[in-house]
Amino acid sequence: MKAKLRLGILFGSRSTEHEVSIVSALQLANFVNPFKYDLTLVYISREGAWYVGPALWQLETYLDFNPRKSGLTQVFPDMTARSRALVSVKRGGIFAGETRRVEARLDCVIPVMHGLHGEDGSLQGMLEMMDMPYASCGVAGSAVGLDKIMMKQAFRGAGFPVMPDTAVSRQEWLHDPGALMRHIESVLPYPVFVKPANLGSSIGVSRADDREALKQALALGFSLDRRCLVEQGLDEPEEVNCAVLGYDGDITASVVEMPVRQGELLDFKTKYLSAAQGGGMASLSRIIPAPISPEETARVQQLSRDIFWALDCKGVVRVDFMIDRATRGIFITEINTIPGSLAFYLWEKTGEGLRYRHLIDRLVHYAMKAYQDKNMNLTSYQSEIISSAIKSRSGGAKGAKA
Ligand SMILES: Nc1ncnc2c1ncn2[C@@H]1O[C@H](COP(=O)(O)OP(=O)(O)O)[C@@H](O)[C@H]1O
Ligand SMILES: [Mg+2]
Repeated sequence: MKAKLRLGILFGSRSTEHEVSIVSALQLANFVNPFKYDLTLVYISREGAWYVGPALWQLETYLDFNPRKSGLTQVFPDMTARSRALVSVKRGGIFAGETRRVEARLDCVIPVMHGLHGEDGSLQGMLEMMDMPYASCGVAGSAVGLDKIMMKQAFRGAGFPVMPDTAVSRQEWLHDPGALMRHIESVLPYPVFVKPANLGSSIGVSRADDREALKQALALGFSLDRRCLVEQGLDEPEEVNCAVLGYDGDITASVVEMPVRQGELLDFKTKYLSAAQGGGMASLSRIIPAPISPEETARVQQLSRDIFWALDCKGVVRVDFMIDRATRGIFITEINTIPGSLAFYLWEKTGEGLRYRHLIDRLVHYAMKAYQDKNMNLTSYQSEIISSAIKSRSGGAKGAKA
């Protein structure tokens, strides 16, 4: 019998979207085919400690998180390239030293995290160091995708349609709030949307229609992040999302969805809490396929694939758009490089329909493919730099003596 692939699901982490990640990860875990994969759940706590153990399957474990009470084992990722081990360390008696034990070894991981320390390239960088295959965008794509300011600069530079904006910093705000607001008003008309550069799920995003509201929006934004994006607002835009799955030249766009919003923006509550049946993004009310024209649908899908390519994405991402009701202009709101619920509900309704467990197979496939591709690159280059440096050093040292 072929050995099962040892698959890890990495979730949690130090992010404002910690809980969303838990819901998405447990949902994913339930779809992993146990005949095909040897699954390990790996939870990173709010404090940044890594844990494994059967209790991670229970949502209750995360209510008043107490690893000792839940019988979880703290593990440390072995950073040695290719070891891919999660190691526990136990202190022995007074005279005994520490004992280390490999709790799990993984062949591939699927990161299911949103926001900082998971979706932002930092975790991806760690996985690259470990030489671990993983099913998310790479370091650069993840980093650019999460930082709203850089993301928009990259999109604009590549010719993708985005709304005008200006980037502002906390230091400018603290130094002279009046001057900063006058600057914003000189470059953008109201309404504007203020967004912390590195958050998601609409946390800290607010609309401002005048100076007073702008002041409050900036105060909130800067309480959450050092940098904020201020973007020209569209009035009640239609919002549509499209997921993209693939890697390198093999890129597929999903059916387009239209999430249903209740207020002036799709807020955190609408996204996750109002339908808190533990379904995460999958339980948000939405219209699939989005009621827009076939041409608009095709354009949204094409832009989504182009963006996937531009950021050299891998795995599954979701690109969000706004459509101006008056002009029917299409603008990109953002890319989510690790979308809520991995957008599985869209793949189920795309083409012939892709079941969540088959989506998982594809994610693993792309992770392994990218890993193989990387290994085709030469990483060593024979040179005589060290030997000639030694020669010149001895020459130099003699010279110094003389
Ligand atoms: N320029 C804008 N005009 C109108 N509404 C916007 C604009 N930017 C954001 N919004 C609203 O705010 C929501 C959250 O903004 P978004 O940039 O997607 O941040 P997040 O990463 O937190 O989801 C959007 O889904 C939309 O409802
Ligand atoms: Mg969004």
